[in-house]
Amino acid sequence: MRKKGFLFTGLVSFVLLATIAMVFAFSHKLRKNNDLVKDVFQVAEQQYGNMLLNATSLNQYPRTTNQKGQIQYVSIGDWTGGFWPGDLWYVYEYNKEKKWEDAAIKWTESLESNQYNTAHHDLGFMMYCSYGNAYRITKEEKYKAILIQSAKSLVSRYNPRVGCIKSWNSRMSWDGKTLWTYPVIIDNMMNLELLFFASKITGDSAYRNIAIRHAETTMKNHIRNDYSSYHVVNYDSATGNVLNQQTCQGFADNSTWARGQAWGIYGFTMVYRETGDKRFLLTAKKMADFYMNSSNLPSDKIPYWDFNVNQKGFTPQWNYQNNKLDYIPRDASAAAIVSSALFELSSYLGAEGKKYYDFAVETLGSLSSPAYLAKPGTNGHFLLKHSVGSFPHGTEIDVPLVYADYYFLEALLRYSNKKVLK
Ligand code: GLY
Repeated sequence: MRKKGFLFTGLVSFVLLATIAMVFAFSHKLRKNNDLVKDVFQVAEQQYGNMLLNATSLNQYPRTTNQKGQIQYVSIGDWTGGFWPGDLWYVYEYNKEKKWEDAAIKWTESLESNQYNTAHHDLGFMMYCSYGNAYRITKEEKYKAILIQSAKSLVSRYNPRVGCIKSWNSRMSWDGKTLWTYPVIIDNMMNLELLFFASKITGDSAYRNIAIRHAETTMKNHIRNDYSSYHVVNYDSATGNVLNQQTCQGFADNSTWARGQAWGIYGFTMVYRETGDKRFLLTAKKMADFYMNSSNLPSDKIPYWDFNVNQKGFTPQWNYQNNKLDYIPRDASAAAIVSSALFELSSYLGAEGKKYYDFAVETLGSLSSPAYLAKPGTNGHFLLKHSVGSFPHGTEIDVPLVYADYYFLEALLRYSNKKVLK
């Protein structure tokens, strides 16, 4: 009897101690998560507070820095204009301080005339990262009409024979002999979120159907058997046939441009969220597997700007002069996009999601370290260092980029569960 009582007391104490240890470990982890998020948003408040003092023209949008570290601005037609208001919305979403909401509204509304922009496919980036966040957070009715008109402008570039929205107008490929007349880039997957939104608020399924068809066509023609991706697919607009599978911002036509792969992972995850169609989930997962399992991914999980730079079997069609640099630059923007995407993807995968979640957290750890996160007062008031805009064009190599910051902040909000956003 005594022995039984002793055993029982032992068991109870063990369970009690184990529970206390678990609660402690969990709260410690939670505190650590919150500390990381808090620390980065503190840096964001400092950096962007200074950015707001510098960026005073509402038609000049901060995008990157020049070689002297000075802020470089772009005008309203540039594809990146929506990210600066988006950054401000994310800071507001974190701290709920009116100052940031005011700034976010001011910068968002400066983009209003873009709702009629039909010059390229980037309406999703420009308008959904700005007005989309604005509507999600404030529920301001007047933003709806602007988002719907933006969706209309975007679908004006859709051709049902191709089954895709045309990304760019005609342009030459790097080989100097191929004129792309219907180029579609993997990045375009990101613009589809605006179309799903437009269908939800109008009740008109036309936008959504175009988005689904675009995603299906992209899945067929942009994604290789190993789930790496082509950057550009050029179509015959009369027949819908694929004419070329090439690159514009990657190393070689058959290489995997890191940010292109990132857009694909994020884009297909989002299309799965909107459709529940398992084909898109599988594509997102396999594209993530390619990225995460690449033998050429550095241990800090921040990819080189292309997975195949200098590798045998990959020949650039452009004048590759790496001799100016004695290293292959990383692309923190790709890492930020992937981290944000993996937080969402992991939530659809049950127990299997853990490895995607852990990878997203490790990436955030690297991006938040002094190796990538700027010291306040430096980096042209952007957050992340070490991104690449377009290596082949010789532009924005190893610099801050406004969209790297945007997806970094989004990933942190997803990590902290602060953001209702999927
Ligand atoms: N959409 C252009 C880029 O990712 O550089």
